[in-house]
Amino acid sequence: MTICWWALPVTILLALAGCGDDDHARRLASAGPNPSLDALMRVADPGNGRRVFGQCLACHTIGQGQLDRAGPNLHAIMGKPVAGGSDRFGYTVALSRVGGRWDRATMDRWLADPQRFAPGTRMSFAGLADPLDRADVIWYLEAEGK
Ligand code: HEC
Repeated sequence: MTICWWALPVTILLALAGCGDDDHARRLASAGPNPSLDALMRVADPGNGRRVFGQCLACHTIGQGQLDRAGPNLHAIMGKPVAGGSDRFGYTVALSRVGGRWDRATMDRWLADPQRFAPGTRMSFAGLADPLDRADVIWYLEAEGK
């Protein structure tokens, strides 16, 4: 039997999340109250990012040179221009006109709510509501570009 010896609020969170799951609640608590994206990135876990990325695999590949699916291949997407990840993919005007490059802040906003980030985008995905899940996925995307 596992004993949760973290501080009381963390214990409650762990109980809600399922004790020992991916230590999500402990990591979230250690990022401090109302954590910034920087604070979340410090406790991010690419292993969990890979797991959360399972939701993206229906539409995206991430390996180098892999084909686009309903969405573009995402290998080494961090640092690339928005709507510039795949030469072969037909991006919407909605996403193309956003401009700029994929950094942590823009990726965080996109993954939180794609339709809000680029109204009219064809990425029909509700978004990742959990900020730590987003940080985990961002780290995973960074790791997949090395
Ligand atoms: C239902 C299919 C679908 C799912 C699920 C999905 N996407 Fe997408 N994604 C798309 C499509 C389609 C586009 C292109 C959008 C456009 O052109 O408006 C896209 C675009 C993107 C881009 C922009 C790439 C570039 O070249 O600029 C990123 C980054 C991205 N998705 C990440 C993700 C991540 C991470 C997840 C999972 C958390 C995810 N997507 C889930 C379909 C999907």
